[in-house]
Amino acid sequence: MLQSQTVPPETTEADPAFLADVLDGLSQRKKAIPARWFYDRRGSELFEEITALPEYYPTRTERALLAAHSGDVGRIAGKGRAVVEFGSGSSVKTPLLLSQVAPSAYVPIDISGDFLRESAAALSGRFPDLTVLPVEANFMHPVRLPAEIAGLPKLGFFPGSTIGNLVPRSGVNLLRDMIETMGVGSMLLIGMDQVKDTDILIGAYDDPAGITAAFNLNLLVRINRELDGDIPIDAFKHRAIWNDTWSRIEMHLAATRDVGFMIAGRHFEMGADETIHTENSHKYTPRSGRQLLAAGGWTPLREWSDDKGMFSLILAEARPEPIAP
Ligand code: AVJ
Repeated sequence: MLQSQTVPPETTEADPAFLADVLDGLSQRKKAIPARWFYDRRGSELFEEITALPEYYPTRTERALLAAHSGDVGRIAGKGRAVVEFGSGSSVKTPLLLSQVAPSAYVPIDISGDFLRESAAALSGRFPDLTVLPVEANFMHPVRLPAEIAGLPKLGFFPGSTIGNLVPRSGVNLLRDMIETMGVGSMLLIGMDQVKDTDILIGAYDDPAGITAAFNLNLLVRINRELDGDIPIDAFKHRAIWNDTWSRIEMHLAATRDVGFMIAGRHFEMGADETIHTENSHKYTPRSGRQLLAAGGWTPLREWSDDKGMFSLILAEARPEPIAP
């Protein structure tokens, strides 16, 4: 019999998944750290600031699309679906949708339990009659939904072009997992940022106020604090580039000189101009977006875009697999 635990776990202890991702990522020939580690408290604050920047068009464009077209979504999807939001975060866009689709329940899924409970409580305040059933889980894998919504038709909600963080192979896996999670017959409303003039894209990821640079560099600050690092932050510069082969903006942290540092007792060296790749943000055309959805098992039903074609919302359906000709 195991002895019962009397000492509560140390809350300042490093997240082993964060440590593993950082050590593995910095041991590769091309250094990279997954973008999901941006979002500590400071990182989440900085992201909120990014969404208000004049150069960062996605958030406000998508919000306007939701305000204009959620009524259509409600009519096509029909009333009474359970809305399942993947990576709900602060759920700021959700009320625009919920007010129009008369959901039978709202199920926000997020890996950050604190954030999840805060935003679920805020939404319950705004929609007192709505059943809110938060699920603390990594939506990058199939998720077991609450038993209360087992028999209800589902409408998935995946805004913000978060899908763009994923290379196509991982994006397809996620889209397939969403069908696993919600079932055939479900619908999905997804936001996809569009390919456009490179200068506009670069401006959105390298703003003159330096907020995106601070957001990127904060990852190093977080590593130093949480993983016992001594990375000299001033030896790194934010860099945003357009990768046309992959149709994506990449963010990197570039060493401005030869630099050595320790993380959790391990030594790393980087040459001047060597980078740590910290984020991909894939951009889609109407066709490439539909193709990604189709590859993941989703049939596009309707699409809405702003008049400049900056950002798109797509409503898709997981249909039963037909016998292919
Ligand atoms: C939250 C992943 C959609 O890729 O545009 C914003 C994150 N990174 N500025 C994006 C981000 C730099 C954002 N996503």
